[in-house]
Amino acid sequence: MGKTIVIVGGQFGDEGKGKIVDFLTEKADLVARFNGGNNAGHTVVIKDDVFKFHLIPSGIIHKDKLNIMGNGMVIDPKDIVGEIEGLEEKGYNISDKNLAISGNAHVILEKHIEEDKATGGKIGTTSRGIGPCYKDKIARTGLRMIDYVKEDNKYARKLKPLVKDTSLMINRYLDDKKNILLEGAQGTLLDIDHGTYPFVTSSNVIAGGACTGLGIGPTKINKVIAIMKAYITRVGSGVLITELGKEEQTKNEDSIDELKKTLGEEGLSYLKRKIHNKSNEGDEYNQGRLLRFNGMEYGTTTGRPRRCGWFDVLIAKYAARVNGLNAVVMTKLDVLDDFKKIKLCVAYEYKGTRLTEFTNNVKILEQCRPIYETMEGWCKDITKVKEFKELPKNAQKYIERIEELTKIPVCIISVGPERNQTIILRKEDLF
Ligand code: GDP
Ligand code: IMO
Ligand code: MG
Repeated sequence: MGKTIVIVGGQFGDEGKGKIVDFLTEKADLVARFNGGNNAGHTVVIKDDVFKFHLIPSGIIHKDKLNIMGNGMVIDPKDIVGEIEGLEEKGYNISDKNLAISGNAHVILEKHIEEDKATGGKIGTTSRGIGPCYKDKIARTGLRMIDYVKEDNKYARKLKPLVKDTSLMINRYLDDKKNILLEGAQGTLLDIDHGTYPFVTSSNVIAGGACTGLGIGPTKINKVIAIMKAYITRVGSGVLITELGKEEQTKNEDSIDELKKTLGEEGLSYLKRKIHNKSNEGDEYNQGRLLRFNGMEYGTTTGRPRRCGWFDVLIAKYAARVNGLNAVVMTKLDVLDDFKKIKLCVAYEYKGTRLTEFTNNVKILEQCRPIYETMEGWCKDITKVKEFKELPKNAQKYIERIEELTKIPVCIISVGPERNQTIILRKEDLF
């Protein structure tokens, strides 16, 4: 009996979807991505090899599995060809045997990128032309892959054999009772309808988007799983209630690479120690910096420093509601290893009242303050832990408290970027 599992981001994107999709692909027959474009950046780490996927589903490294880019996506021809060629250079053979692109996916054109660059500043978009391309799709003036590949240019020629009726292909896999993994991009709070509008992306990123973005019915989906970090990050503008330090401070920070250049290895480790100490003295900005340093929180697509904050239970509950979650994968738990105290946001204070449900009304969110519950840290390296019961007691308590507050079980815990740094808790939610 096959299973169809949807993977979505449960926060503001970059939760580690790429790592988990790659991990779950081992037991899948087909991986299909249903939304977004090259605004996404999905990282897969296998030993010393780091893959960054922007368009191709994160299952592609597994040989003999079919990967599909669905009609819900927007595709920049130059970028997809670049990604295919990058994989070919690494020795991966890409053909219509392992990659198919929906003829109904829309094409990002130069004019979309120009418009995004000119108008996307307020939102802090990735400037990849995403919004303007979806705008043309909705206005019924867009260009679809099926028509694009009839053109006589080098990208069109390369892509033509890959363009197919992917809805039909997926439904055949469903009929044959295969295991199917549906990969979302971005995160729930960036959803065009349910996110913190207007500070969102331009597609449906939530689980429902898997049906419209691929051409399959809701009755075919068996499990919905959200990936969430053990804390939270956001890149780009818009409210982040548990943010540690101010958005402006983070924006002006140098990346680790720049710091390495100016300070050298020794200077950098001195700076890290200083941040570590200040963080454990309770300095919020340095707590955010410590999350950023430990978690390497710099955008996969744009390199921007990500804004960091404590785990927000209200957002997790909201993600459970709008996605109909069966389970959560908790990633980057290891990033909290250095903290003596860890906070969980359990409610918001809004004009003197206590809110326990998230609202996507930005005007209200902007006036909310976090109410925290403080937990003891574990101050131990957990990156080599293989089983839940081997985790330090305080790390176990942290996970259990989140489960209790959100009422969603955690099925996997991730303790490092590599495929094998993965602890399985509930097999029944997986393939
Ligand atoms: P995605 O967009 O959801 O696929 O996430 P990104 O790839 O943009 O960002 C997640 C980053 O965290 C990547 O650099 C991953 O390699 C890394 N990562 C994933 N899981 C873990 C984890 O459990 N621990 C640590 N330290 N890093 C992780
Ligand atoms: P993955 O799939 C994090 C953010 C941008 C910006 C807003 C709108 O890697 O999780 P857009 O270019 O989509 O019009 O920008 O959405 N954003 C992401 N943030 N991860 C992503 O993808 C994102 N894709 C878009 O930073 O705030
Ligand atoms: Mg990403």
